[in-house]
Parts: sequence; structure tokens; C-alpha cells
Amino acid sequence: MTPMYTRIAQLRTPEQFSEHIRSLGIVLDFDPELLSAPESPLAQPYHLQLSTLNLQLSNRWCVLPMEGWDATTEGKPTELVTRRWQRFGQSGAKLIWGGEAVAVRADGRANPNQLLINESNLSDLAGLRESLIRAHAACWQTDDLLIGLQLTHSGRFCRPTDKKRMEPQILYSHPLLNQKFGLPNDYPLMSDDAIDRLIEDYIVAAKLAQKAGFAFVDVKHCHGYLGHEFLSAVDRKGKYGGSFENRTRFLREIVAGIRAEAPGVEIGVRFSAFDFIPFKPDENGIGIPDQFDTDYSYAFGGDGSGVGINLSEPHQFLVQMEALGIRLVNITAGSPYYVPHIQRPALFPPSDGYQPPEDPLVGVARLINVAAELKAKHPNLCIVGTGYSYLQEWLPNVAQNVIRTGKADFVGLGRMVLTYPEMCADVLEGKPLARKKICRTFSDCTTAPRNGLVSGCYPLDQFYKERPEANVLKEIKGK
Ligand SMILES: Cc1cc2nc3c(=O)[nH]c(=O)nc-3n(C[C@H](O)[C@H](O)[C@H](O)COP(=O)(O)O)c2cc1C
Ligand code: SF4
Repeated sequence: MTPMYTRIAQLRTPEQFSEHIRSLGIVLDFDPELLSAPESPLAQPYHLQLSTLNLQLSNRWCVLPMEGWDATTEGKPTELVTRRWQRFGQSGAKLIWGGEAVAVRADGRANPNQLLINESNLSDLAGLRESLIRAHAACWQTDDLLIGLQLTHSGRFCRPTDKKRMEPQILYSHPLLNQKFGLPNDYPLMSDDAIDRLIEDYIVAAKLAQKAGFAFVDVKHCHGYLGHEFLSAVDRKGKYGGSFENRTRFLREIVAGIRAEAPGVEIGVRFSAFDFIPFKPDENGIGIPDQFDTDYSYAFGGDGSGVGINLSEPHQFLVQMEALGIRLVNITAGSPYYVPHIQRPALFPPSDGYQPPEDPLVGVARLINVAAELKAKHPNLCIVGTGYSYLQEWLPNVAQNVIRTGKADFVGLGRMVLTYPEMCADVLEGKPLARKKICRTFSDCTTAPRNGLVSGCYPLDQFYKERPEANVLKEIKGK
């Protein structure tokens, strides 16, 4: 049974949108009137002065990292990967945050078709970056385009050899996630020595990313993957667990190594600023929080209830980043594996998810307001926000308000770029939106890879509509 939530496309006037926001009891500011460039706040230049970079980015759109489970098994880009990156370039967004998750070593891949950074893939990754730049150059200057590479190890969610077989590498025995993903409580933990070696892999990867031409690397700390798991490793013994100091050592050591061995490459961090207890479907398929008898301490940025937020540790984390000289920060939340509704708000769940337990607009507002609170406390950081795609027709109005009022420095777009990369340019040029291209959060781009298929926008992108996988996906969804 799907809960009935008001469709955004039906909210045609600012009054109707306002009334809907009011009825949900949330705070979500928007500008009723849109401005085009050069007056648009989204067209205001952003001056980024980093130790080795001095750039004036000429708009406030950012493309968020999105992988497609479509690289070769050696981790090299394919035509599908290249097409996606070209579309990122065609969007006109000036900040390309990471491109997509790229594994720092083979056994840390989230799937056998994840990009992998190593010597033998170096020229391919450099070529991928260049193809994005060429696509951007067809319409815009490129000297203010900032492109980073997202470095990752998938930790608990590794599937390096078989799309259907998890080969987890975990930091602590999580009482709910171990059970949810079929791991015994005594499943072996990554040793401190193994972590020390992994830190070396990140440093080598950053050096290679720099050689490939990327201006920064994102030391990913989000979505339940390894970097994120460190932040909640409260039960882990030894130097990487327990105290806040220990749980953030992984980042500090990687940063120190990169600064020593790859000076000049900038560092960014995308992190889940809050997290919830894992959700599961109830008897009607609607998401409900899993049960836990005591305070739930495994949600970084959580308040112990499992479904509330306490930003004191995320603030501390940002203080530490500032001390490390990191300025590029991307705020996201939760994990697509156990709380997709807080991570990528959607009306239609992926096949392994649950029906939304709240109006997805509540999830959008939560992400935007958390980013705003963190930006207010850390005004010197360059903060990128996440979770806007569900806003659909109202995305430009909320985005303009966010930038105009300084709630974030860049508006990050994920799924919307898969279906409608031109939205960024259309908004700046004051063109009406192409309604048929607007992402309606059908979640096929998540359902496809969950079922071993390449990811893409099957419902709206003609290119994917025509691929044989589209029929397979229909069959899977029809079951
Ligand atoms: C198909 C797909 C692939 C994704 N891959 C990544 C990834 O590689 N790295 C990452 O940090 N986030 C990834 N994400 C999350 C997005 O970057 C983004 O946080 C999320 O989609 C919410 O933003 P949106 O509402 O604009 O879609 C992915 C999301 C989707 C839908
Ligand atoms: S499949 Fe297309 S419409 Fe559906 S969520 Fe993904 S990008 Fe949006």
C-alpha cells in the first residue's frame, strides 16, 4: 500500500506550495519569483581561495557524485560512464563533486563494475575527466570548472567480485546491520594494521588522482561506507574506535599523508551529517524504525532516539576539518542501504526499500536545514547541499533561496542531473523548465543496480529506455 502524498507537480502556484509546506509543519524557505543570470543568486560567482587554488566559480550549481555500476571489471570507464560524465559537463554546473565513487583498492569496491584508481587505469580516468571538460567547453569557458574525484572503500557494503555477493569489511559488530545483512556477531573485524595499510592506499590514490588532473579528492565519509562507519565506531577498541578523537583518526591520517606526498591536491569531505536507526517495511510495506532497547549510539549525528538529530559531533568534525585546512565540505545523510528516505527522498522506493514513512518533502527540508545550521556555525567553509531532486518544479525556487540567504554555498544535484542535466543552464537563462525531463523520483536508477543492472534513468532518458535492460527492469518491477 502506497501512502498518499501530495504530488509536487500538482502544486502550481507559490501559494499552493507554501500551503503544502505549512500543512507538513516543516520549515522550507523558497523564493516565489525566479531571477535569471546575471541577477540570479545562483549566478553569483563563488571565490574559492585554497592553499593552491584561487578560482572564481561562475555559478552555484554542483553535480553530486553518481556511479552507474557500469565500469569494466578492471575498473576502467566504459562508454556508459563516459556518457554520464559528459552529461555532468553539459549541465553547466561549475563544481563537479567527485564524479562518482572510485575505489582505492579492488577488494573495497561496492560492485565488480565500480571504477578503480590504480596505475593501469590512470590514463583512462584522466581521459574521463577530459571528456567532461570537452562537453562543458561546447557551451562554457572551462577555466572556472572545479573537478574532484571521490575516493572510497565500501566497507560493510563491499561486493567486489559478484554483484549479488557481499564481502563485507567491517569496523565493528553492528547489532542491527550485522543481522540485517546476514553477518554473525563474531564476523571478523578489520584490524588496525589493515586500516593503516588502507590509509596508504588512499594516499597513493590521491597522488594518482592529482596526476590524472583532478583538482581535489573527496575522502568520502558518507552513506554507510567505510569512512562513515568510522564515525560511529563507538564500540571499537584501539586507536580507530571509541572516542571522537579515535573515530576521526582515519581522516586525519589520510590528510596528513596526502599533504606530505601529494602537496597541491586539495581535499574535500562528503559526510553523512546525521543518520537514523535502520528502517524496515511494516506489514503494509511502509518504513518503520527497527527496534532497539537502549539508546541508539550508532547514528553519527543522531540524538540517541534513532530518529532524531544532534549535530554536536558533526560540528566538532567540521572544527577538525577547518583545523586540517579542509574547506570543501558536502553535506549528505544516512545511507541508501538502510535509511534511503533520509538520504535520497523519493515518492517511489527502490525494490529493496520501503514505502516512504513521511512525505519526502520532510526529508528534503531536513537535509537543507541541517546544511544551513552547519553553514551558520562554519561560515568559512564552502558548503555543498544535497537532496534537492524531489523538489522537482520547485527546485529552482528553493535553490535560489538557499544561495540568496547563505544557507549553503552550492546546490548539489544528484538524480535530477541524470534525467535533466540542462536544468542548471535553463534556470540561469530564465527558460521555462522542460517538465517531461524532471526527475519524478521513480527510483529506477537505484532499483536497477540493486538487481545487477547498470544504473540510469530508465523512465525518462530515451537512451536508457531503449536499452535491453529496460525490459528486464520492467519484469523485475512487475513481480
Ligand atoms: C544512481 C545513484 C548513484 C549514486 N552514486 C553515488 C556515489 O557514487 N557517491 C555518492 O557520494 N553518492 C552517490 N549517490 C547519492 C547522490 O550523490 C545524492 O546524494 C542523492 O541522489 C540525493 O540527491 P538528489 O536528491 O539530488 O538525488 C548516488 C545516487 C544515485 C541515485
Ligand atoms: S530513474 Fe530517473 S526519474 Fe527515477 S529517480 Fe532516477 S533519475 Fe529520477
